[in-house]
Amino acid sequence: MSTNVKFSANGVRKIFHDERTNRSVEAISNLDLEVHDGEFVVLIGPSGCGKSTFLYMCAGFEFPTEGDVAFEGKTIKGPGPERGIVFQDFVLYPWRTVRRNITLGLELKGVAKQEAAKRAQHWIDLTGLSGFEDSYPRQLSGGMKQRVAIARTLACEPEAVLMDEPFGALDVQTRDFMVRDLQRVWDETGKTIIFVTHSVEEAIMLADRIVVFGARPSRIKDDIRVDFPRPRTESDPEVQALRAKLIDLLADETRHESIAG
Ligand SMILES: Nc1ncnc2c1ncn2[C@@H]1O[C@H](COP(=O)(O)OP(=O)(O)OP(=O)(O)O)[C@@H](O)[C@H]1O
Ligand SMILES: [Mg+2]
Repeated sequence: MSTNVKFSANGVRKIFHDERTNRSVEAISNLDLEVHDGEFVVLIGPSGCGKSTFLYMCAGFEFPTEGDVAFEGKTIKGPGPERGIVFQDFVLYPWRTVRRNITLGLELKGVAKQEAAKRAQHWIDLTGLSGFEDSYPRQLSGGMKQRVAIARTLACEPEAVLMDEPFGALDVQTRDFMVRDLQRVWDETGKTIIFVTHSVEEAIMLADRIVVFGARPSRIKDDIRVDFPRPRTESDPEVQALRAKLIDLLADETRHESIAG
């Protein structure tokens, strides 16, 4: 198993200290987690349990107070091109077209313009943006903007993609489409993905593995392997049973949280 580990967290603890109020928050208490090559891992859990904090550590934006987060066995010391990110607030450049938003990362990497355009087209097609190459972000719906953000990240060919509630700001129908799209893209690329969500539905449709975080300070409450064939349908009894189990686990955590104050 240890041969193809992409991300590994060992004894990770994270304390945020607020200088202004002189208060400390323990966001993560003791986290051990391994994510393997090609795995689609969904992190789910109550608000404030440290999901984003953990993802930011994988991205190299935050660092553990204790313990270690590593990528391919090397401690993460900052962001890197092998780890792409897609967060909820799509940061597209309004003055650049769809194509040029997607080629941006490639241009920064020094890829020649023509080659960058060719590569961008591949991801434009794969993410269903064909026909919108020359549109500007303001002309796109929220779902399409998020597709551009995903295409831009994938165009840089990272080995792993970190996604923090990427569909959180979208309406339910758009979300369903995006989930199906992402499923297809993942099928075709086989990337390692860590995906944070509040949506039990997204988790069930997408995950190979669902890691349920407990209430703050977070620990892992459950680690569930999901090996139902894809594409999954909500009416499938297995899917429904898992859905019920997840809702139960999450409700349990929210109860603990409110008792603890
Ligand atoms: N930069 C920071 N400074 C101080 N506290 C922080 C900082 N970032 C996160 N926290 C605190 O750490 C805890 C975990 O936050 P985090 O954003 O990781 O939770 P989350 O699980 O992503 O929540 P949500 O589901 O609401 O996005 C929270 O109590 C939060 O207030
Ligand atoms: Mg978060």
